[in-house]
Amino acid sequence: MSQIELKSLRKVFGQNIEAVKNLDLVIQEGEFIVLVGPSGCGKTTTLRMIAGFEEPTAGEVIIDDVIVNDLDPKDRNLGMVFQSHALFPHKTVFENIEFGPRMKKMPLDKRKKRVEEVAEMVHITPLLNKLPSQCSGGEAQRVALARTLITEPGSFLLDEPLSSLDAKLRREMRAEIDRLHQELKKTFVYVTHDQEEAMTLADRIVVMRAGEIEQQGTPMEIYGDPSSYFVADFFGSPSMNLIDGQIRRNSSQESFVFEGCGLSLDLPQLEGLREGSHCIGVRPESIKVSDSDSDIKLSVTLVEPMGKDTLLYFAHDSDRHLIAVVEGSTEIQSGDLVAVQFPKDRLYVFDSDGARVR
Ligand SMILES: Nc1ncnc2c1ncn2[C@@H]1O[C@H](COP(=O)(O)OP(=O)(O)O)[C@@H](O)[C@H]1O
Ligand SMILES: [Mg+2]
Repeated sequence: MSQIELKSLRKVFGQNIEAVKNLDLVIQEGEFIVLVGPSGCGKTTTLRMIAGFEEPTAGEVIIDDVIVNDLDPKDRNLGMVFQSHALFPHKTVFENIEFGPRMKKMPLDKRKKRVEEVAEMVHITPLLNKLPSQCSGGEAQRVALARTLITEPGSFLLDEPLSSLDAKLRREMRAEIDRLHQELKKTFVYVTHDQEEAMTLADRIVVMRAGEIEQQGTPMEIYGDPSSYFVADFFGSPSMNLIDGQIRRNSSQESFVFEGCGLSLDLPQLEGLREGSHCIGVRPESIKVSDSDSDIKLSVTLVEPMGKDTLLYFAHDSDRHLIAVVEGSTEIQSGDLVAVQFPKDRLYVFDSDGARVR
């Protein structure tokens, strides 16, 4: 097991591509950390600096209290799994898995036993005599995991290991990785651009944006208490409704005026915020559809039954819509005018720079 610490870590490619700007992060022993963010935000570069495949421009990588900047990747006690698993095509699954220990001259009988153990762990025992070309995408990814598991690293670094798999297989493999982490109790650093993977796997999510940490916290902290528009928008499916508009104040009351359609909501909780451009966020599951007295009436443009629940799309502007989720099925039809309530305690407010102000 390892604790991994990144201190003022920075990576500049060429003259001015700042892939990682100034990263400070402590990853506890046994923790499952997910680095998540859009493509190009520096996730892979960060992972590669931890692994030792990329030399930091500045800063330190510290593993178990030792600065490892000058250590070779193979001496860092880490196991890495990539998106493209790059198995040897002419070696069997068995030979692929035993490759590392064989290079380290582990005796054949011990090697065989270890291959069988790790194959068992990721459920690929029946595949050991097959070639990679005879494995499905999911199976090949399990082989890649086994090949890393057999080296018994202190920590696992995984870079988008599931992104080449289809949705169903991805969910299955996600559960497998979760189980492996619980069994092995090792440190996992997992990189993905998929917010759902981050939410379901992480002990702690580290949200990256343009080479910096935007926010870190447990999945529920990130979901329930996003520090910025960027984070609010990134997590959740369907994502948070984000409505541009103006905070206005008259003598007694604060209100929010939607951009475009000019709808106005009286919102006492905006008290104390400056007037002018802001964005209000509300999660689809927080919007209440009712026929009681309510803030506003909106027309339904689309009804999407999802089985367990139904998505309602509302027009509030010519090119923007709001989404609400209602449980189960609904009588509501496209074209209906429906009363919509914004629960006052479940609103987020962002300023025009995208910072959360309430
Ligand atoms: N070897 C490289 N040379 C030049 N630029 C690179 C190199 N590797 C990554 N970059 C750039 O650094 C930034 C971060 O890349 P990366 O860490 O791969 O992002 P992510 O994994 O989050 O998609 C991107 O702008 C990318 O184009
Ligand atoms: Mg990447």
